Amino acid sequence: MRRMIIAGNWKMNMDAGSAGNLAKGIVGRLGSRTEPVVVLCPPFPLLSTVNLVVKDSPVKLGGQNLHHEEKGAFTGEVSDVMLDSVGCSYVIIGHSERRSIFGETDEFLNKKLLRTLSGNLTPIFCIGETLEERETGKTFDVVKRQIKRGLKDIELKTGQELVIAYEPVWAIGTGKTATPEQAEEVHLYIRELLIKRFDEKIADNITVQYGGSMKPENAKELLSKPNIDGGLIGGASLKADAFNAIIDSA
Ligand code: PGA
Repeated sequence: MRRMIIAGNWKMNMDAGSAGNLAKGIVGRLGSRTEPVVVLCPPFPLLSTVNLVVKDSPVKLGGQNLHHEEKGAFTGEVSDVMLDSVGCSYVIIGHSERRSIFGETDEFLNKKLLRTLSGNLTPIFCIGETLEERETGKTFDVVKRQIKRGLKDIELKTGQELVIAYEPVWAIGTGKTATPEQAEEVHLYIRELLIKRFDEKIADNITVQYGGSMKPENAKELLSKPNIDGGLIGGASLKADAFNAIIDSA
């Protein structure tokens, strides 16, 4: 059965001092609980600092991005091997900010997914429509295209983990959350696409997170939906109390 995963996407926030403190506040509260799976995704320079805090706890570490090559002349980039070597077990791929601000395409993201799945990290692959796409009735088409192109040529070995994060772009950092019904409708559609793309058994094991202004006030209702298997949380992951409350509701 798929796992419930609550991941904190810290984006370009925190520094060496505050990152350690935030991680301590989460590790301390979680204790030895292994459900839900909790993942922290700090900026690259803070990974080692956070790893020192989480490494003997159930809390997992993740990167926010990676390059699809292992090494070489790619100034400013990092590889899956590097992330693995500093304690990461997850990596976010294709966040809408990467797509819209840094121009990452479905084809480029597909290379990152192929690379990641051939190594040791679990990808958290982000998809979702913009406000304009939703308002013009294109939500399902967009999600279908992102899955089709993003997961091209991908094969999952038995038990291999893949996480999809459905993040409607209009809900990210806006305080506007998809209603549990709106989110579940798309999550169910994603599950159907995954069944067609892989098979029922594999699709049933894929965690599909919701992301977009998830907070303590709305987490429980969203997470109670049958196809919402966790959250990718931005703003509310920067405060231990708020993030811990979301973990508790999962
Ligand atoms: P938010 O961000 O929770 O601040 O809306 C979510 C995300 O971008 O992953």
